[in-house]
Formats: sequence, C-alpha cells, structure tokens
Amino acid sequence: MRNSLLISLAAAALAEGKAYSPPAYPAPWASGAGEWAQAHDRAVEFVSQLTLAEKINLTTGVGWEGGQCVGNTGSIPRLGFRSLCMQDSPLGVRDTDYNTAFPAGVNVAATWDLDLAYRRGVAMAEEHRGKGVDVQLGPVAGPLGRAPEGGRNWEGFAPDPVLTGQMMASTIEGMQDTGVIACAKHYIGNEQEHFRQGSQENYTVADAISSNIDDVTLHELYLWPFADAVRAGVGSVMCSYNQLNNSYSCGNSYSLNHILKGELDFQGFVMTDWGAQHSGVGDALAGADMDMPGDVAFDSGTAFWGTNLTIAVLNGTVPEWRIDDMAVRIMSAFYKVGRDRTQVPINFASWTLDTYGNEYYYAGEGYKEINQHVDVRGDHAKVVREIGSASIVLLKNVDGALPLTGSERFVAVFGEDAGSNPDGVNGCSDRNCDNGTLAMGWGSGTANFPYLVTPEQAIQAEVLKNGGIFTAITDSGATNTTATTVAAQASACLVFANADSGEGYITVDGNVGDLVLHTVGPVLVEDWVNHPNITAVLWAGLPGEQSGNSLVDVLYGSVNPGGKTPFTWGKQRSDWGTDIIYEPNNGDGAPQQDFTEGIFIDYRHFDKYNITPTYEFGYGLSYSTFSFSNLQVTPLAASPYKPATGHSGPAPVLGKVLNATAYLFPNYIKRIEAFIYPWLNSTDLRTSSGDPNYGWSTSKYVPDGAQDGSPQPVNPAGGAPGGNPALYDPVAEIRVTVKNTGKVAGVEVPQLYVSLGGPSDAPKVLRGFGRLSLGAGEEAQWTATLTRRDVSNWDTVSQNWVVSNYTKTVYVGNSSRNLPLQQTLALKIGH
Ligand SMILES: *[C@@H]1O[C@H](CO)[C@@H](O)[C@H](O)[C@H]1NC(C)=O
Ligand SMILES: *[C@@H]1O[C@H](CO)[C@@H](O)[C@H](O)[C@H]1NC(C)=O
Ligand SMILES: *[C@@H]1O[C@H](CO)[C@@H](O)[C@H](O)[C@H]1NC(C)=O
Ligand SMILES: *[C@@H]1O[C@H](CO)[C@@H](O)[C@H](O)[C@H]1NC(C)=O
Ligand SMILES: *[C@@H]1O[C@H](CO)[C@@H](O)[C@H](O)[C@H]1NC(C)=O
Ligand SMILES: *[C@@H]1O[C@H](CO)[C@@H](O)[C@H](O)[C@H]1NC(C)=O
Ligand SMILES: *[C@@H]1O[C@H](CO)[C@@H](O)[C@H](O)[C@H]1NC(C)=O
Ligand SMILES: *[C@@H]1O[C@H](CO)[C@@H](O)[C@H](O)[C@H]1NC(C)=O
Ligand SMILES: *[C@@H]1O[C@H](CO)[C@@H](O)[C@H](O)[C@H]1NC(C)=O
Ligand SMILES: *[C@@H]1O[C@H](CO)[C@@H](O)[C@H](O)[C@H]1NC(C)=O
Ligand SMILES: *[C@@H]1O[C@H](CO)[C@@H](O)[C@H](O)[C@H]1NC(C)=O
Ligand SMILES: *[C@@H]1O[C@H](CO)[C@@H](O)[C@H](O)[C@H]1NC(C)=O
Repeated sequence: MRNSLLISLAAAALAEGKAYSPPAYPAPWASGAGEWAQAHDRAVEFVSQLTLAEKINLTTGVGWEGGQCVGNTGSIPRLGFRSLCMQDSPLGVRDTDYNTAFPAGVNVAATWDLDLAYRRGVAMAEEHRGKGVDVQLGPVAGPLGRAPEGGRNWEGFAPDPVLTGQMMASTIEGMQDTGVIACAKHYIGNEQEHFRQGSQENYTVADAISSNIDDVTLHELYLWPFADAVRAGVGSVMCSYNQLNNSYSCGNSYSLNHILKGELDFQGFVMTDWGAQHSGVGDALAGADMDMPGDVAFDSGTAFWGTNLTIAVLNGTVPEWRIDDMAVRIMSAFYKVGRDRTQVPINFASWTLDTYGNEYYYAGEGYKEINQHVDVRGDHAKVVREIGSASIVLLKNVDGALPLTGSERFVAVFGEDAGSNPDGVNGCSDRNCDNGTLAMGWGSGTANFPYLVTPEQAIQAEVLKNGGIFTAITDSGATNTTATTVAAQASACLVFANADSGEGYITVDGNVGDLVLHTVGPVLVEDWVNHPNITAVLWAGLPGEQSGNSLVDVLYGSVNPGGKTPFTWGKQRSDWGTDIIYEPNNGDGAPQQDFTEGIFIDYRHFDKYNITPTYEFGYGLSYSTFSFSNLQVTPLAASPYKPATGHSGPAPVLGKVLNATAYLFPNYIKRIEAFIYPWLNSTDLRTSSGDPNYGWSTSKYVPDGAQDGSPQPVNPAGGAPGGNPALYDPVAEIRVTVKNTGKVAGVEVPQLYVSLGGPSDAPKVLRGFGRLSLGAGEEAQWTATLTRRDVSNWDTVSQNWVVSNYTKTVYVGNSSRNLPLQQTLALKIGH
C-alpha cells in the first residue's frame, strides 16, 4: 500500500470516528544514550565510511528465501561485511538440526525464576551464535495474552506486564551477553492471529485488524514489558502485522517515533515482521529501520526499500540523515552485543537440511555446502530439563497422591499426549499438528526437536528401575473396554491430555488417577477437576525436548514442584471477559478490535468483577507447605519526579549523496533472480522505480516535520532507554519472612502485589516476585524493591507518569488470591 493512501486512510478513520493514531515526526535519531555510548560511537565510525548504496544494503532484506537465514540483509563486500542473518525462534534455532528444542516462554513464566530465564537466554543464544545467526527473533511480549484464545500467547510469557517484563529483560540479557542481538516482538497490540494480515480463508477485508488501544492501557499494560526490554538494552524491536488505531504498526509514527524512539529512547533498530511493511517512504519516515524479508511480496523481485529507498533519498523525499540513522542503529546493536567478536560464518540453511544446496534458494543459484550440521547443543538439555520441572504447576493433590513413591507395582499411562508422534518427532512441518505428546506449539515460533523424551518413555524407564510393570495406551482409538480393564488393574493411572483433546480420556473408572495437562494456556477443567477419583492434576505446559524427564522429576519427587500458573484458569469461557474477533466486524474494511476492557485482562478482570476462578493467577501447590509472616514496608525517600527536558542535537549526516549515476547497477555484478539490490536501472528515477504511481500526490507524501533534522525536544516521559530514569528510583523496600512449614525441602514463590488505590485502578497488580528454595523447617527473608514506576499511573493530560494521592496498599502471599499479609504504603516521595 502506498504511503499517501495510508495517510488518507488515517484521516478517513478520524473522520469516521474510528480510532486514530496522530502523526509524530521526525523519527528520532540515535544518540548513544546510556549503555549505548561506545557501541554508538563505533557504529558512527563504521557508517561514516559507507556509500548510500551500502547503507541501503544494511537496511533492506534480499528477499524471501534469498539467503540461508529466514531473513538476510544485503552485504558490504568492499569492507568484508557479510549479510546479517535473522533467525527464528524465541525457543531455539528454527529450521535446522543438532539444535536444542527449549521450553516455550509460557513455561519460563511458570517458573517465576529470572535466573532460569537468563540461563535459557544464554543457552539459546549460544546455539544461534554457533550457527552464525546475528539476530535471534525473540523474546515475545506481544501477544501479552489479552484473551486466552490468542494463538501465539505461549510464545510470550504471561498476561501480566511485570512478569512478562522481567522475563523479557532477563532473557534479553542472557542472549545479548552471549553475543547475539535479541529482538523484542511483536510491537504492538499483536493480540490475535485472525485477520492479522487482513484477508484470510472465507473472508476478504481491505486491511489488517486494528487493535484500538487507549493511551492508559497502552502504557500501563502492553508497552510496559517493551519498556523493560528497552531498558535491558535490547538491540532490535520487531513491529507487528496488525494496525494500531487504524495505522499499520510498521508505519505508525506515533508508536515508533513518539513512543518507542522518543519516550522509551530506544537506541537499536526497528525491524518489520515478514510482510508487515506496507509502504516504502512512509515506513522509513515513521521509524522503521530494517525491512524483512525485503520484497514487496515474497519473491516478487520488487521492494519498498532497496532501489526505491535509494531513489527516495535522491528525489529528496527521505532525508539522508534518516538512512544514516537506520544504519547507525543497526550497527550500534551489532557492536553493543559484540558481534564483531562473536560472529562465525552462517553454517546452516533454513530451506533444506541437505548438506549441499543453493545459497540463493529461491533463485536456485550458488550451489555449495550449505548445511554443516554443526552440533550447537552443548549441555543445554540440562537447563531444558530444569526449566521443565521448575515450570510444572501442581494444581491439585489430594492426600499426598503425589509424589509417587516408586513402590507402585503397576503403572498405567493413558492418552495420546503421553506418546510419540507416529510420523516422527518432526513429522509435522513447524509442529503443525497435534500427534503424540505436546511439547511445543506450532508456527514460526518453533524449532526442530533433536529428540523428544516422551512421558511414556520416561515413566516407563522409572517404573522399570523400580521393578514395576508398565503399560501405556496412547492410541486415541483404543476402546473404552481396553482402557477400563487396564485401569482396574493398575496401582497408579496417569492420564495425559492436551489443549486440543483435553477431555476424551477422563473416564478412568473406579481408580485413582493423576492427570497431566500439556496446554498452551488455560483450558476449562471445571467439569471434571473436582472428580474425587482424579487425585492430582499437573500442568506441564510446553516443556520442550526433555518433557518426560522433567515430568518424572516431579512425579517421583526428586524435584518438589514450585511452578505457579502464569495465567488464570476460569470456570467458563465468558469469565475472562475478552475474546478475539473471528468474523469481520467492519464490512470489508479492517476489522476493529477495541480493547474496551482496558487494563482489565486475566486476573485483573477476575478481581474487578469478583469472579471465582478454578485456579487463580500465581497459584501452584508444593509437596511442602509454607507460611508468610513479618511484612515490613519501608518507604524510601525519593526526590520529586522530574520530567525530562532539553533538546537532542541536530540529526547527524554521515555521508554525501551523489547523483543517480553513482548508484547505477554495476556491470560487474551478476543479478540473482528476484534478489533485492540497492542500485538503479537508470538515471531516470521514475524508470528505476517502475512504480506507476511514482511521485503521485507529492503534497501528501511527506508528512509535516518528517524531514526536519533540527534539534528536537526530549520527551518529558523519556530521557533514557526505558523511559524517564526517575521512574526507576526505589520508593519502598518490602521484607517478608517465608518459612517452609512442611516436612520436605521445597520452593516457594513470594508474590508482591500493589493496589494503586484509584477508582480506575485494578484491585491489585503484580509488582514483584521471587523464588526461594527452603529446606524443611527453614525460613528466609525475601526482599523486594518498589520503584516509582510501580506506584505510578499514566496521566493522559500531562503525558507522563504520576503518583496519585490515593492510598497505596502492599500485599504479599503465594498467589493473586492468597495474600495473607498487607500493609498501607506511606510514600516519601517529594511533590
Ligand atoms: C489510539 O487512540 C486512543 C484514543 O482512542 C488514544 O488514547 C491513543 O493514544 C491512540 N494510540 C496511538 C498509538 O495512536
Ligand atoms: C549489497 O548486497 C548484495 C548482496 O549481498 C551484494 O551483492 C552487493 O554487492 C551489495 N551492494 C553494495 C553496494 O555493497
Ligand atoms: C471457512 O468456511 C468453511 C465452510 O463454512 C468452514 O468449514 C471453515 O472452517 C471456515 N474456515 C475458517 C478459518 O473459518
Ligand atoms: C518500488 O515500490 C513500488 C511500490 O511502492 C513497487 O511497485 C515497485 O515495484 C518498486 N520498485 C522496485 C524497483 O522494487
Ligand atoms: C498427524 O496429524 C495430522 C494432522 O492433524 C493427521 O492428519 C494425521 O493423521 C496424524 N498422523 C498420525 C499418524 O496420527
Ligand atoms: C466407558 O466405560 C465405563 C465403564 O464401563 C462407562 O461408565 C462409560 O460410560 C464408558 N464410556 C464411553 C465413552 O463409552
Ligand atoms: C471412584 O472410584 C471408586 C473405586 O475405587 C468407585 O467405587 C467410585 O464409584 C468412583 N467415584 C466416582 C465418582 O466415579
Ligand atoms: C500458600 O500460602 C499458604 C498460607 O498463606 C500456605 O498454607 C500454603 O501452603 C502455601 N502454598 C504453597 C504451595 O506454598
Ligand atoms: C553525476 O556526477 C558526475 C560527477 O560529478 C558527473 O560527471 C555527471 O555528469 C553527473 N550525472 C548526472 C546525470 O547528473
Ligand atoms: C531493472 O532491470 C532488471 C534487469 O533487466 C529488470 O529485471 C527489472 O525489472 C528492472 N526494474 C525495473 C523497475 O524496471
Ligand atoms: C520518491 O521516490 C519514492 C521511491 O521510489 C517514490 O515512492 C516517491 O513517489 C518519489 N517521490 C517524488 C516526489 O518523486
Ligand atoms: C496530591 O496532593 C497534593 C497536595 O494536595 C497536590 O499538590 C498534588 O497535586 C496531588 N497529586 C495528584 C497526582 O493529584
């Protein structure tokens, strides 16, 4: 779609009373703020040596399947700088072999353990690094999880901004400390799959769905974890497929220029999701810095950027400084994580596992050894197993049904979800089926399994070790009689179910049964969970390759479960109060998803409407018991909040634009089919563009202020990466004593909630958590710090954070509904 059209669409939205996103220009240029100073200086030095065409190469993808990674930029052969490699996924290296299949984000959230999140980040990045990847496309904070039906919620962490935000930060630190650029995605409002790119099966609509999010909800909920990501130094952010207030995320100047690069002072680069770019000039001016995979449509051979971006500079539409800034941002991220030291040649190919094949896969050219099958797994299976067991949530356990003792003579396992996929561990492309045990969701957020230890295999190994007998009925077509007969004989029955086939097996007549659920999120369990013969229920999420081993650790008690559910389990679907859109609701225009529930998603909704869930957010049992006592709330003096002031410097211009002749396609380069280059066919720009609408409607083409490279005012809510530094001033210290009152060592997750006290506030919001390992009878003090941000609200009038005068209350306990300790917080913040 053309920019002029986009701008008039936005105006039309305003006229029709639809949600509207105001223009915000110019795109802020990187300044090297905070920890970015050194990387920024090096980036400026590097970019200063480049020609315009070379800079354009850094910003533009070479086209779908035009290189070995899922995304590849052009290269700078003159300086020996190779194409940058972008690779999925948030849980491992996608589309290769000899890699680890890590647990999904939702499991990491269920551990409530930032150290595990960090270690997973390190391990994943070691694998990406070893395969030659520059940017790992993760972690995920969008979707946040507005509605349980959101198809990709499991790729992210939890429908709570603080749990997700802290998990984002730790994951990013782990990845980037290891020398790989992280990519916080999908920015922003990417909360459902239906209509994310517009038309889909059965429905034709003109544009992608619009997430219409008010300012308070954006700041207090969906933006929050991205702020944490930026504060953690994330090198790249991926803009999403959806529209935000009827303006495409990758061309939304308000969310990219004003909020991400202005208010959050993001110093890295914005990369478009694959096919999320809808304009060339428009997205460049609105703050996108790298387009992926680079072509207008997959393998169209045409591009919004590449040649067109060179032309846009030559015809004066996109200022040279904007291109320089794109390149500086990309190279800043490169140097910040140390890619100049950690980069190895790309030694795998995403499109085939054959050892020999074409480097330019789509064009069928560049035959060479493309897969060296490098084993990058190291000892990562250990952290996979550890996260797997640490994330298991014990939802029900009657009379110590679990742990099993090992003395059970006959253990029987039921359910397809316990067994192998008959088609092989990677039998379905991108895990696009639900055969055998569920250990990963499906889509681009996946990796191939190197193997998958199923529950059946791991439990059988344990039973044999203990001298028992074992059977598993994993064929969903097995007759009821067969199952009933076995169940009647067994001393322990373990029933497995997953999200897609949850209820079929729950007729284990007349026997003690334990249930294991592998699901991507909450499912309705109310119909059977209180059945007296279901004595224990475990949620194991999407645990990755060590699934069975992690489960056995918990089933037999070598690991005492400490996972807490990172989402609410309602009793009926309507309990959540949110849903996705399944059918167009705006004629053939963009479906409109109004986030009318505001900040009230998941537990905030249940709390506000006083709905009793089956299992509340933060809930999870242990084989031990714990008590909380001695809450001490110590307010800390903090100076008054100071809105950031001052101005940026002028936009640096790092090169000289020559005339069109200098950028003609060189005759020594052999064109690769459908490949995207930065060069021109002709000194006539219109001819080179090949765009029939070239130069059309010039007056509307360049938004006001978009070319202005003069010093710009600093956003008062900004001033440093992550937002105004005063937001992170500590304002209270919270101490509590946690005691293991049971007979076995175990893990407890103290949770700190705050009520901000105002009439529009949630009854309480999570603001801190920890994970303590305590021996039987042992007690420990847990300390948490509240920052100014934790007690602030977004004020739409001052466009800044304010601490309201409503009474703040602090709550501590072990779930969102079990908070035995509470105290009023008398802040000592100067006004
Ligand atoms: C979206 O529109 C709402 C008003 O409906 C406004 O509060 C919010 O700031 C807008 N957000 C963006 C990113 O344009
Ligand atoms: C741009 O990248 C392509 C692909 O790597 C390369 O062939 C070309 O030489 C590069 N152009 C410049 C100006 O460096
Ligand atoms: C499309 O319509 C057909 C026929 O009504 C239906 O079977 C199918 O599930 C629909 N697909 C989607 C994605 O809604
Ligand atoms: C330039 O962009 C337009 C769309 O805006 C596209 O139609 C055209 O093919 C592009 N030109 C090149 C050379 O890729
Ligand atoms: C695997 O799943 C696919 C898609 O759901 C199904 O068509 C196929 O029959 C399954 N294969 C086996 C062996 O169960
Ligand atoms: C399975 O068998 C049990 C016991 O014989 C019976 O109560 C139940 O209704 C049967 N279920 C189905 C689905 O046939
Ligand atoms: C539970 O199991 C016992 C046998 O162990 C059986 O008698 C009873 O009917 C079962 N309860 C239910 C509610 O099915
Ligand atoms: C949660 O805390 C309560 C006391 O408030 C305690 O009885 C219970 O054992 C704790 N649960 C877990 C799993 O720690
Ligand atoms: C471009 O610049 C070169 C060198 O200054 C000059 O020789 C040439 O005539 C110019 N070409 C055009 C098309 O203006
Ligand atoms: C530029 O030239 C190449 C090679 O002849 C051709 O394939 C391509 O379509 C041309 N681009 C435009 C926009 O005419
Ligand atoms: C400048 O170039 C861009 C990219 O080809 C094109 O979309 C735009 O229409 C051109 N603008 C003018 C004023 O020529
Ligand atoms: C809180 O009260 C003080 C004293 O009345 C006042 O100066 C301040 O503006 C109030 N703050 C807010 C956020 O309303």
